[in-house]
Amino acid sequence: MTGSSSAVRNRSLQGKVAIITGGASGIGEATARLFAEHGTRMVVIADIQDELGHQVATSIGIDKCNYIRCDVADEEQVKAMVESTVQKHGQLDIMFSNAGILSPSEQTVLELDFPQFDRLFAVNVRGMALCVKHAARAMVEGSVKRSIVCTGSVVGSRGVSMSSDYCMSKHAIVGLVRSASVQLGVHGIRVNCVSPNGIATPLTIQALGRSAEEVEKVYEKLRRLKGDALKVKHVADAVLFLVCNEFVTGHDLAVDGGFVSPIHGSML
Ligand SMILES: NC(=O)c1ccc[n+]([C@@H]2O[C@H](COP(=O)([O-])OP(=O)(O)OC[C@H]3O[C@@H](n4cnc5c(N)ncnc54)[C@H](O)[C@@H]3O)[C@@H](O)[C@H]2O)c1
Repeated sequence: MTGSSSAVRNRSLQGKVAIITGGASGIGEATARLFAEHGTRMVVIADIQDELGHQVATSIGIDKCNYIRCDVADEEQVKAMVESTVQKHGQLDIMFSNAGILSPSEQTVLELDFPQFDRLFAVNVRGMALCVKHAARAMVEGSVKRSIVCTGSVVGSRGVSMSSDYCMSKHAIVGLVRSASVQLGVHGIRVNCVSPNGIATPLTIQALGRSAEEVEKVYEKLRRLKGDALKVKHVADAVLFLVCNEFVTGHDLAVDGGFVSPIHGSML
């Protein structure tokens, strides 16, 4: 990035207050660091990994970043987290609703395990919707030019051979974002989705039971664009774009290096 474009971006986040769910790790952590570099007044990391969340906040700087424990599946906790942010920092400009999980085992539709399905939907769908609802309620009270971004996935617009529950949950995020963007535009609130391809993060490293390098090799097969592996910083850059651009809303931005089988709508 050139010095001048960096300055433009710095100004656009100057003085803003942001919440990032799932900010203790992976994509959320990278985005928290990028927001702070670009001048946010306060980034609130909301997560359930207390030790890691405090470590990330401390390393960014306690004057610029706070950690708060919040299970996004619990409405009272989400409401309290948004209210305490507005109370302590005076406003909420940006919600990056990013926390998400994978099911402990992969399933086809023939094998769907509904207790597992319900837990996944509680975090990935209910949790995202709760964060959009309570952030939007706080933002409606405030000034214009506010922004919500949700983390979807490339599987949110494709079928998959396994992990049907995860694929369904990410399809739901696209519906949430599209509806919220239509309903909240009148309040000057933009709502967008960022949809990454596979990346080596604690989520996928643990699910695949392989090293970060091995996970990157697996995901290399899922993109057409050859070159370096997709990293969390590429997704964080896309989130920064969605937050800073003042006219993009209702968009699902794929960060995927050209995903497999776009024509047939399936993956692998
Ligand atoms: N890594 C990938 O390949 C990939 C690809 C596409 C989409 N995504 C999505 O990106 C998002 C971030 O995942 P990541 O890859 O950075 O994984 P990650 O595991 O590194 O980060 C996810 C964070 O969410 C937190 N979290 C989980 N459940 C929570 C809950 N109930 N309440 C609050 N926080 C909770 C975790 O503690 C963790 O810190 C997820 O929504 C995931 O579905 C990931």
